[in-house]
Amino acid sequence: MTSTSIYPKITTHILKEMKLKGEKIAMLTAYDYSMAKILDKAGIDIILVGDSASNVMAGHTTTLPITLNDMIYHASSVMRAVKRALVVVDLPFGTYQGDSKEALQSSIRIMKESGANTVKLEGGEEVIESVERILSAGIPVMGHLGLTPQSIHKFGTYVVRATDENEAKKLIKDAHLLEKAGCFSIVLEKIPAKLGAQVTKELKIPIIGIGAGPDVDGQVLVLHDMLGITQKFSPRFLRRYHNLSEEIKGSVKAYISDVKNLNFPNEREQY
Ligand code: KIV
Repeated sequence: MTSTSIYPKITTHILKEMKLKGEKIAMLTAYDYSMAKILDKAGIDIILVGDSASNVMAGHTTTLPITLNDMIYHASSVMRAVKRALVVVDLPFGTYQGDSKEALQSSIRIMKESGANTVKLEGGEEVIESVERILSAGIPVMGHLGLTPQSIHKFGTYVVRATDENEAKKLIKDAHLLEKAGCFSIVLEKIPAKLGAQVTKELKIPIIGIGAGPDVDGQVLVLHDMLGITQKFSPRFLRRYHNLSEEIKGSVKAYISDVKNLNFPNEREQY
């Protein structure tokens, strides 16, 4: 039996149950109604309205420019489509880091204006006050550690994180802090597989990996990357299931040719 038939609706509690049973969790990003509808019907467990929308939807080189209003727009579109999946929405850069009251206000806006189920934010100890305040209002929080793209200017590079002992120790400590604060899950991005396995074993909450190896509780990919809509981004952890960019280009070329050569519309395609 597939997870789709067992769980009619995914909640944070179901995710914990899935971890306990050793059932893997499948998560993908989506930013619009049509894609979210396809993902939900296919049986995806979690849809992340990621701030990667800044890259793949808006064409920015980092996730930093996207605004809270932009995220609410994307999340609202996704929420209109989704019946089964749990929807997680990224708190964008600059809306939660410095001030826990602002973090709560940003989260409340996301929940009220989009109808989303949960929020995600990046960081550990540095943002723990924000995490606690958001949780105190009854809003479920997913953490995100390892390569946290909102800190790209601090890192200076997108290479694998926590390969040295100090960073690995801090990551483990942060993961425990997030769990203790009450986060329902944590994303671990681009870290050694061994470290991903260790955190997954030590924590009771589900750990979702993106480039964190196979021994985590679930996997997440950016939809546009796994479908081959984006072309240049090719990290080792990315498995491309399609080459949609080429397929779309081929369809558009065929359409252009049909229009120019008077092959479209034909007699059956008119009134
Ligand atoms: O914004 C995003 O797509 C993410 C994933 C990479 C986990 O945070």
